[in-house]
Amino acid sequence: MSEDGRPSGPADREGGRSEPASGAPAGTPERIVLVGFMAAGKTTVGRELGARLGYRFIDLDEEIERRAGRSIPRIFREDGEAEFRRLEAEVTRALDEVVVTRPDGRHGLVVAAGGGWMARPELRDRWPGAVRIWLRVRPETALERLDGSLDSRPMLDADDPLGSIRALLEGREADYARAEHSVETNGLPPDEVVDRILAAIARHG
Ligand code: S3P
Repeated sequence: MSEDGRPSGPADREGGRSEPASGAPAGTPERIVLVGFMAAGKTTVGRELGARLGYRFIDLDEEIERRAGRSIPRIFREDGEAEFRRLEAEVTRALDEVVVTRPDGRHGLVVAAGGGWMARPELRDRWPGAVRIWLRVRPETALERLDGSLDSRPMLDADDPLGSIRALLEGREADYARAEHSVETNGLPPDEVVDRILAAIARHG
């Protein structure tokens, strides 16, 4: 963290690049967390949502890699899932107190969480005012989107990726369903998903 409470490093530079395209309407929650399975589009959609709202965007997986100085597959390979989960909790806790104030006086943070984040009550219930959005993806769509990058997904069985996606997703669905809103992503381009998120927030807060 830097002195003003912002995380330092790549996320800072990323946040500094995005300019508000239309700005956040009154009543938009200050902290929006995108959750859901791998390849649901959390990072891509989160970056665009942040830019549209004029909010800072932080990707938890990127923060983990920055903090560890290693890629996620390497963390899994060298130290196992337990170490990855420890880092995931550490990076989440580091965001507890972050108040994001932009030069234009706006506040706001969009967080993209990893696929396992909602399955951990100590993480998912950490920020009471946050609005969590479940980006839904079908197993077949997830597999299509992951094609070519399966070796960087240590949670999936390389010999049966679809089977492991189905099993993991089924086991986590009840956790994802705890999110305040759920938004479809199958067959939709990222900007349409962002439109739907903004509409869901405008309807229900
Ligand atoms: C994980 C999903 C990944 C990453 C890690 C574990 C999971 O994030 O956090 O490989 O348990 O589903 P994405 O959902 O952003 O791919």
